Amino acid sequence: MPALVLLGAQWGDEGKGKATDLLGGSVDYVVRYQGGNNAGHTVVVGDQKYALHLLPSGILSPGCTPVIGNGVVVDPAVLLSELSGLNDRGVDTSKLLISGNAHLITPYNITVDKVTERFLGKRKIGTTGRGIGPTYADKINRTGIRVQDLYDESILTQKVEAALDVKNQLLTKLYNRRAIEAGQVVEELLGYADQIKGYVADTTLILNDALDQDKVVLFEGGQGTLLDIDHGTYPFVTSSNPTAGGACTGAGVGPTKINRVIGILKAYTTRVGAGPFPTELFDKDGEALRTIGGERGVTTGRDRRCGWFDAVIARYATRVNGLTDFFLTKLDVLTGWEEIPVCVAYEIDGKRVEELPYSQSDFHHAKPVYENLPGWSEDISKAKSFSDLPKNAQAYVKALEEMSGAPISAIGVGPGRNETIEINSFLS
Ligand code: GDP
Ligand code: IMO
Ligand code: MG
Repeated sequence: MPALVLLGAQWGDEGKGKATDLLGGSVDYVVRYQGGNNAGHTVVVGDQKYALHLLPSGILSPGCTPVIGNGVVVDPAVLLSELSGLNDRGVDTSKLLISGNAHLITPYNITVDKVTERFLGKRKIGTTGRGIGPTYADKINRTGIRVQDLYDESILTQKVEAALDVKNQLLTKLYNRRAIEAGQVVEELLGYADQIKGYVADTTLILNDALDQDKVVLFEGGQGTLLDIDHGTYPFVTSSNPTAGGACTGAGVGPTKINRVIGILKAYTTRVGAGPFPTELFDKDGEALRTIGGERGVTTGRDRRCGWFDAVIARYATRVNGLTDFFLTKLDVLTGWEEIPVCVAYEIDGKRVEELPYSQSDFHHAKPVYENLPGWSEDISKAKSFSDLPKNAQAYVKALEEMSGAPISAIGVGPGRNETIEINSFLS
């Protein structure tokens, strides 16, 4: 079972960090393939809690080589502070590999992200303000700065100057901000070069060699399927491809190498930032999910919007990712409800719709069609096997599995590594 993709099946924060860390002990490489430090992945190991943004969650497993693939956007200041934070806590980060083709998040792109959002006013996306969108835009515009450019001062200077020629027009004339000095940016970037150099590698070659030698490689997605630039709720999305295909382009590995695609799926739904969310709750149930589930963003500290499970979205995630399995997380959070509504379809203009509409206008006014499933009140956090779960919790999982279109192979009943019920091994 050499190559697995692990990705978010909803709008992010499904528990990818925990799931990756869980598998990290049994895999050789964990690869981030897209996104940047907009991600916030929480990993709980014993009584220690780690919040990772840019680094792959496999960094906490000693035998595993963490890789930042070419599809990731790297803020060098964040990279170094995350590394030193882990080193201070005794985590060995020396095995990290970073693709020389990954793009750098520059200070001016962080500025552009923030001022663009401010300019959009109430039409804003609600980005994390980390410069993600503008950095991917530069990549596509062929004006981006790559990690490898740090090692050629003349190229770096030319590229920063060329990028700022245009950005400064925008910043000064449209957004009424001060121009940014190319020389200062170059100096700042060069200041990171030596500190990062030891990690920079031809990651595509290394990963393909590893796969040829039957090593196990896990591709860890950031964000989630509905935040995908192509398949998500555009324009309320991030600027990369968290969906399964992104693992191939973002790491330089062919689709024929991928054996398993695991969708991380929360037992209810959350979303941070703006955009449509059919099952969103504005009542005491929404507040209860937020409180019990600890639904506060790891990156921005914003409260997450909360709602019931949406099977239409789960089915869509199965379809666009070719999911082979689900890892259902946070089932424990649902303990205590007498009945749990699950969205099984939408009503759009008086018609029942079973699949996610491709039209954003339709999706914006989709109303959830609910089925109520019986709840349970027993504490499930100590459950070790499926049969340990109360009958109604078992039925809830089985119902979700049936509606979502792929087997649920693991269930999270708490944040810790061992608070997991494994049904089918992901590595067999
Ligand atoms: P990610 O971005 O997908 O890695 O998810 P986040 O780390 O942003 O958010 C998931 C949160 O849920 C974290 O605080 C995790 O520690 C926590 N978590 C993960 N799995 C479970 C679970 O099964 N039960 C509970 N109660 N918490 C979980
Ligand atoms: P993890 O990996 C949840 C959301 C932002 C915003 C939109 C665009 O922890 O699941 P961006 O800064 O990427 O341009 O913002 O995407 N967003 C996330 N929401 N979890 C994440 O990551 C997210 N990363 C970005 O809130 O709505
Ligand atoms: Mg998160």
